[in-house]
Amino acid sequence: MNEIMNVIKSRRSIRSFSDEQIRQEEIDLILEAGMYAPSAAGRQAWHFSVVQNKHILDEISSEAKKIYCSMNNEFLKKLGSNEQFHTFFHAPTVIIVSGDVNSIAPNSDCAVAAQNIMLVAEALQIGSCWVSAAAVITQTGEGKKIIKDLELPEGYAPFNSIALGYKKTERLNAPPRREGVVTYIR
Ligand SMILES: Cc1cc2nc3c(=O)[nH]c(=O)nc-3n(C[C@H](O)[C@H](O)[C@H](O)COP(=O)(O)O)c2cc1C
Repeated sequence: MNEIMNVIKSRRSIRSFSDEQIRQEEIDLILEAGMYAPSAAGRQAWHFSVVQNKHILDEISSEAKKIYCSMNNEFLKKLGSNEQFHTFFHAPTVIIVSGDVNSIAPNSDCAVAAQNIMLVAEALQIGSCWVSAAAVITQTGEGKKIIKDLELPEGYAPFNSIALGYKKTERLNAPPRREGVVTYIR
């Protein structure tokens, strides 16, 4: 099978990580993949915060859980009130992908960068999981204070974050894909 297709199909969200930190050469490649994503008008209006500071990750997790508890969604409420739950699953590295809020399509720019990050992580046998927590906490004053510690460029805000680490779970196949999701117009 084509190599890229193999990586796309092998990637799954990983939520259990070894404590061992991933290597700097691996982080460099992963970041390069993010930077080579397409972006609206080619602006590359993104910023990547490589967070390995446990205290900051714990703060983001706690604040996001508070927000989940206040939301009108039973699934998120349950997660938010679960003391064992850590939004980043104690991953040793989290890349927070931020975008210039005044650029053309920051949410999409950051999403395609995130997908490149997750695919190259998979190619390196590194587990990854998209985590919404860093974007969610931009909603509160307390969250904004935590984001200040990320020293983002002026006008930038987190749009997504990717938990990264060596996998501590066995490989699971992707569930079957939904059918009937393609229409040809000829
Ligand atoms: C926009 C978006 C937000 C997501 N947010 C979270 C999240 O906050 N926490 C989490 O554990 N997974 C999150 N995920 C991962 C999805 O749950 C996961 O991709 C989905 O269940 C399919 O599983 P797979 O990635 O193994 O194919 C998110 C994925 C996307 C695309």
